Amino acid sequence: MRVPMIAGNWKMNTTVSEAIELVNEMRQGLDEIDGVDKVICPPFISLAAVYGAIKGSSVRLGAQNLYFEEKGAYTGEISPLMLADLCEFVIIGHSERRQYFNETGEMVNKKILAALRIGLKPILCIGERLEENEAGRTEEIITEQLRSSLAGVDYPGSLTIAYEPVWAIGTGKAATGEQANKTIGFIRGKIAKLYSDGIAQDMRILYGGSVNADNIAKFVQQPEIDGALVGGASLKATDFVSIVKQTSQIRANLSKES
Ligand code: PGA
Repeated sequence: MRVPMIAGNWKMNTTVSEAIELVNEMRQGLDEIDGVDKVICPPFISLAAVYGAIKGSSVRLGAQNLYFEEKGAYTGEISPLMLADLCEFVIIGHSERRQYFNETGEMVNKKILAALRIGLKPILCIGERLEENEAGRTEEIITEQLRSSLAGVDYPGSLTIAYEPVWAIGTGKAATGEQANKTIGFIRGKIAKLYSDGIAQDMRILYGGSVNADNIAKFVQQPEIDGALVGGASLKATDFVSIVKQTSQIRANLSKES
């Protein structure tokens, strides 16, 4: 059984003091919930402070990006080596980075390789844009994103994939549970072909895009969906705790039934 994961992507929100306040608001509620990996991804500048604030708790830390070189003259960038001191996870290839910062498949691939090399666990984001979805090209786009992102990755052991249809991110228009389940099943099939059935069955694949406390249930009820990458709703402590709690309860019920 794959342990579900709920990861909160805070994006470019919260000052350092607001980040500490937010984590303090959710920490106890999250610690009371079992059976779900809880990850928060604050902005770089708050990572050290949040690292201190979650010491001794079950909440785990991720970054939202990294640069692929370990050190050197790359003004303004943050290296895998720097993150590895503080973080366990790192989001790579988010569509906002592809869209606003011209991140290419090749860069995403270099970042994945750099993260794995240093022992950071990547959360690789893939997903089609609206026009690609409407043209029936979802599977083609996802196949290409997987191929380019994972080039040269011999063993993707600690990798998590987040399927995030771009048209669902920040729009309030989430995919349906069935749609997301079908595409995530397709992704799992591709991983099986690229690696092995065993690796595909062990890999966590999340859904992301307008997930909130009112719709999380319809995603985590689905057999292929192992949790969610949550943007906007991860900035409200009560909502985020509720999303994690519902995931835990639904998963516990499903495993009792099976
Ligand atoms: P959203 O963002 O939940 O605000 O749609 C999801 C994401 O970008 O990971």
